[in-house]
Amino acid sequence: MRGSSLQLPPVGLGLWKSRPGEVGEAIKVALACGYRLLDGAAAYSNEKEVGDALADCLRDGVVARGEVFVVSKLFNTHHVWHDDRSRPAAALATTLADLRLSYLDLYLMHWPVAFEQTELASIGGLRLKDGTPNPKLVMEFEYVETWREMLQMKRQGKVRHLGVCNFNVEMLEKLMAEFPDDFPEVNQVELHPYLAQPELVSFCRQHGIKLMAYSPLGSADSYSGASFPARGTGRFACPHGGSPLLQNELVAEIAARHKLTPAQVLVAWSVKEGFCCLPKSVNPSRIAQNLAGASFSLDEKDMERLKALDCDFRYGIGYQPGFFDCPNAPWFTG
Ligand code: A2P
Repeated sequence: MRGSSLQLPPVGLGLWKSRPGEVGEAIKVALACGYRLLDGAAAYSNEKEVGDALADCLRDGVVARGEVFVVSKLFNTHHVWHDDRSRPAAALATTLADLRLSYLDLYLMHWPVAFEQTELASIGGLRLKDGTPNPKLVMEFEYVETWREMLQMKRQGKVRHLGVCNFNVEMLEKLMAEFPDDFPEVNQVELHPYLAQPELVSFCRQHGIKLMAYSPLGSADSYSGASFPARGTGRFACPHGGSPLLQNELVAEIAARHKLTPAQVLVAWSVKEGFCCLPKSVNPSRIAQNLAGASFSLDEKDMERLKALDCDFRYGIGYQPGFFDCPNAPWFTG
């Protein structure tokens, strides 16, 4: 077995939740101020605008293609579904066309879950208006056959690197056993001081799987964020005195002491942990501020204090137990 020698920039621009009409400008600002990684996905429904903005930046010489690391993700609608193996390749073709690129730097499997429906519009969307899952959605736990198809994409030169998102140790182990020479180079998961995932992090480090951290600022604009407490599971109430991560007292205190913003402390924490941190912003000054946070090195004492915030609190409910009905899933917590 081998670990990946892939080098990721310490910070990339998260594109989840960046709306059409905003995402293109955010990318232009980010690339101009020094970001070199764009973390997108087909499921973010903004890839065409991402592609247009990137094309403008390449044309204007803001960056060369080889200098910008472009990430996209294969969504659940396009896993291998039973005997239909054509879906993953079709998804990549759409993504490459939307992004106006001939190859991706990194293609990630978005979730270890497959949907029967390829067009969610045909059933009225993924969720109902109140945010609960659409009962018409048919889903299964599936990633091995989809990974096999993704390996083919790499052989064809359409993607340079491959990885997964939202995988726990058990799932990673399964892929490693099945594909000992071709297991994921990256696992992108939710990571921040409220959700430090020490076992998963240590497993990935041990096996040379790079970690990308999404929702590093506590995903304040997330549908499933702390502003949405009434789900009845108890997992959605914010921990630490009801404080969203950006308003956490300790984070604020460390920020004030170092003349940083709370967001910069969170970015610095992530970078110190060795993650590729993916803050989302569509605001020019916050985009620049977040990147600057990567240059600050928190000392061990601050890191130790921030460690005490870990309470296994997840902002992104995704496909968590009891939320979507996926009967064959050994539900994941990592
Ligand atoms: P905006 O896009 O208006 O800047 P996450 O990366 O954890 O998903 O968090 C994204 C949320 O945090 C968005 O609401 C984003 O809003 C906000 N955000 C991004 N950067 C900062 C910052 N430096 N300070 C405060 N809020 C920020």
